[in-house]
Amino acid sequence: MPLLSQVRRNVCRGRLLRCTLPLTLLLFLTVGLKHLTMDCNLAHNNDIPMESCMTSYYMALNLSAPGEKNCHRIIQGDTDEVRRALIDNLVAKKKRAVLTDWDYINLTSDCKLFRERRKYIMFSLSKAEQDFPVAYSMVIHDNIEMFERLLRAVYTPQNIYCVHVDKKSPESFLQAVRAITSCFDNVFVASTLESVVYASWRRVQADLNCMEDLLKSNVQWKYLINTCGADFPLKTNVEMVKALKSLNGHNSMESETPPNYKKRRWEYHFEIKEDSDTIVLTNTRKKPSPLPVQVFSGNAYIVVTRNFVKSLFVNPTVKKFIAWVKDTYSPDEYMWATLNRFAEMPGYMPAHQKYDTSDINAIARLVKWESLEGDTNKGAPYIPCTGTHRRQVCVYGTGDLNWMVQQHHFFANKFDPKVDDNAIQCLEEYLRYKSFHPTENIF
Ligand SMILES: *[C@@H]1O[C@H](CO)[C@@H](O)[C@H](O)[C@H]1NC(C)=O
Ligand SMILES: *[C@@H]1O[C@H](CO)[C@@H](O)[C@H](O)[C@H]1NC(C)=O
Repeated sequence: MPLLSQVRRNVCRGRLLRCTLPLTLLLFLTVGLKHLTMDCNLAHNNDIPMESCMTSYYMALNLSAPGEKNCHRIIQGDTDEVRRALIDNLVAKKKRAVLTDWDYINLTSDCKLFRERRKYIMFSLSKAEQDFPVAYSMVIHDNIEMFERLLRAVYTPQNIYCVHVDKKSPESFLQAVRAITSCFDNVFVASTLESVVYASWRRVQADLNCMEDLLKSNVQWKYLINTCGADFPLKTNVEMVKALKSLNGHNSMESETPPNYKKRRWEYHFEIKEDSDTIVLTNTRKKPSPLPVQVFSGNAYIVVTRNFVKSLFVNPTVKKFIAWVKDTYSPDEYMWATLNRFAEMPGYMPAHQKYDTSDINAIARLVKWESLEGDTNKGAPYIPCTGTHRRQVCVYGTGDLNWMVQQHHFFANKFDPKVDDNAIQCLEEYLRYKSFHPTENIF
């Protein structure tokens, strides 16, 4: 006689019901649990995960920051922990070598292994996100590791990503970007690449090239977001989808009445000097803009509807305006801002001053301008940068995180692992945690 039934018969003698019930339950539980773990197997699952799998997926896909720092406390604004991280950063900066073009070319030789090792999320996290694809135009020129970490932070399989690589970038950089994009069906390099001269028209052309390619893709994306290589997200994809829906078909970007000193940027003809890679002012005055609204100033980073993007390529007045901006200074910093006030553009805001939107009020990009940093008790918009400054803009440090995550912006600019990798690592940990715990309000 088999041992188990012998034991059962002895134990259960005279108490049949009370005894078989727990044993049956135990059996069900064992089979059930086995079933559950099979369903939560990452390798075989591309569906939206069941609620019960989220914890086990997070265990496999977390981006918990290495080292001693406590990102939770840093993001909560614990000053001792921030100070420790800033000191640690001075030491760590010397230790860690960032990944190179060749590292990525090597890492991506096996795409499956690459996606696993780098912990990409290869499934949609919710139906709401699956039904609301977003397009990205990513314009980059160097720092492959920062690009790859940005891509990983915003990647989801239902979105679509176009990457524009500067024609002047080293061959190895382009090769590494192509190697990374080759590992994803929905990430590609723009079909036409520009040689981007700082503050020139070609910065806008790079985005337009991606936009045109993105319109041709068969992903029916609803909104477009553009980024550069020094951006990092502050929101998860599901948070962005929610915020995009609440825009009710409007675009969101900085667009304000320009200060007088900026006006010569579009009142005079500018020329690109290819040999020195710069753009210079000439004495030639330009004709006024062909749009029926004044020129507004803003920045290169926008959140726009699919129909806004479509109109850029079909509206005759818009096409004339785009041709008109080509010989001006930094059209990226006023072209979008002006088009967004033109009543023929889908999702626009009226040209009236009441609709002026500052960078702080728009959701596209959070930037700390050095000249505006100060004491918030005395009216400054934000406290001083804890990283360093580049072109009068803060390259964020760990001490900026607590303020940053309280803002409504989708992305912040600028980040650089060579300036403060702890800040980026903590954001990675934070966003990944929130992605898998969407209903929790705390990190
Ligand atoms: C994070 O992932 C690592 C494996 O990479 C795992 O060992 C660890 O337990 C995970 N941590 C959490 C909090 O899930
Ligand atoms: C990739 O890197 C590993 C470890 O450094 C090395 O052993 C391997 O040969 C490299 N593979 C290629 C294709 O370069």
